Amino acid sequence: MTTPDGASDVKIHVQDLAVAYSDGTESLQGITMDIYAHQINVLFGPSGGGKSTMLRTLNRLNDQADVAAQSGQILLDGENILARDYDVTQLRRRLGIVFARPVPLPMSIYENVIYGLRLAGVKDPATLDAAVERALKQAVLWDEIADRLGDNAYALSGGQQQRLCLARSLALQPEVIMLDEPTSGLDPISTFKVERTLQDLKQDYTILIVPHSVQQAARIADWAAFFLQGQLIEWGPGRQVFTAPKNKRTEEYITGRFG
Ligand SMILES: Nc1ncnc2c1ncn2[C@@H]1O[C@H](COP(=O)(O)OP(=O)(O)OP(=O)(O)O)[C@@H](O)[C@H]1O
Ligand SMILES: [Mg+2]
Repeated sequence: MTTPDGASDVKIHVQDLAVAYSDGTESLQGITMDIYAHQINVLFGPSGGGKSTMLRTLNRLNDQADVAAQSGQILLDGENILARDYDVTQLRRRLGIVFARPVPLPMSIYENVIYGLRLAGVKDPATLDAAVERALKQAVLWDEIADRLGDNAYALSGGQQQRLCLARSLALQPEVIMLDEPTSGLDPISTFKVERTLQDLKQDYTILIVPHSVQQAARIADWAAFFLQGQLIEWGPGRQVFTAPKNKRTEEYITGRFG
């Protein structure tokens, strides 16, 4: 499957997805959309709209949460990941997730990057060294910290910690990187570095991101989906959604009239 303009492949197809928590909150209702390969796919909208729920559902993290009802399909390369017998461990290797607040592990920079590989049983030092260098370069952190890989990760700045957490995901060579407000709390320069990193990463990965602001969404979106109170109000090419939205509520939100 390709985009309407034939430019890119569909990596994930979401069909009629509905998620309700056991307290009755319908966090997602009838969501149908595509996530395109090698594009920056953006989910945006006001607080409580269902953006994080969407990411968690894609990674099957809601399996452990307080979810009462879930219906619809999520097809990853055509296969329904919500199927009961789908291999969730394998899924989480293919779909890496990076959360808002970077949480390095209390160990060295080096050990942080290879944490997942060690869990997966990788022991060969040359393989691990190569993985560290590759992941840190992809996260655009290598040049800043190459000479102090043995330092404790807590010694890094907030922006560096965020890119370290990104590198930790990249080390596992996922196919899709999901990021939930990865630059909230970062200064403008660190934010810019993370945004530039994403532009490089989309050559190799599919990116799905919840930006921390409308401005950031407009800057980075190849494709944009506007979520409001559990519904997908509008979804389309970023340029169209942010300059000529089709829905009045999208327009009101991006022009700052609500939210
Ligand atoms: N574990 C949970 N139990 C019950 N309700 C939940 C749970 N997690 C989320 N919700 C509800 O689901 C709705 C969507 O929440 P979600 O976190 O997906 O929104 P969001 O778009 O990510 O918002 P924000 O921009 O504030 O991060 C909200 O009404 C929220 O209160
Ligand atoms: Mg959220």
